[in-house]
Amino acid sequence: MIKLKTPEQIIAMQKAGRLAGEVREAVKAYAKVGMTTRELDLYARKLIRKGGANPSFLGYNGYPANICISVNEEVVHGIPGDRVLMDGDLVSIDIGTYLGGYHGDTADSFVVGTPNPEAEALINATRESFYVGLKLCTPGNKIGDVGHAIQEYVEDHGYSVVRALTGHGIGRKLHEDPAVPNYGKKHTGDTLRPGMTIAIEPMVNAGTHRVYVLDNDWTIVSADGRLSAHYEHTVAITEGEPIILTKTE
Ligand code: MF3
Ligand code: CO
Ligand code: CO
Repeated sequence: MIKLKTPEQIIAMQKAGRLAGEVREAVKAYAKVGMTTRELDLYARKLIRKGGANPSFLGYNGYPANICISVNEEVVHGIPGDRVLMDGDLVSIDIGTYLGGYHGDTADSFVVGTPNPEAEALINATRESFYVGLKLCTPGNKIGDVGHAIQEYVEDHGYSVVRALTGHGIGRKLHEDPAVPNYGKKHTGDTLRPGMTIAIEPMVNAGTHRVYVLDNDWTIVSADGRLSAHYEHTVAITEGEPIILTKTE
């Protein structure tokens, strides 16, 4: 069941979302070659708590950390730990904040150290595919229209979209209906309506779209070991243009 939000509830979600966006930007600026992913996780925890929020992911289905950090071939749900960031690594961070009874959920990918053109091209296409999908987030369009546009953009750039995981509705719960796939057919799926709040999150692989789960039962990696990038915002559908709730400006 899709839970539509009132304008007041969307404003409350914007508070959670803005904090998630601020933490995303701060972690991105803080990340340096030689740091462990645990250091980034603890920095994020500190900022989330300072903002009066709780990390949405800690304890979610038993998830053991505050944020997700997925490096290189890791697609999503990388668990922060002893892994040291190496020069030129592609780092994807995914941050959830629970504030005032609502969740914000946002992710971004970046390179640490020496520029890595191959990784940066993948990151740029992943981010752009989000905005291509966002353009279609107006009332009357369907979930399948958004997924189709994202998939088409990604594949036109020679990459593949992960199908094993999707975006999602979001609100009082981190994951609500509907599922928001990054692939699909035009004119299919639920119709977008004002008050819908969804997390759109393309996960894009340089090679095959196929993935598998590591022995830690969380981390998803590309089946061919090639790079993967992630980009995510929490978005509100309105009568007019969509609102990105996890922006920082
Ligand atoms: N952040 C993921 C998403 O975008 C969910 C992570 S759940 C966790 O939907 F438990 F792995 F943290
Ligand atoms: Co997320
Ligand atoms: Co999400």
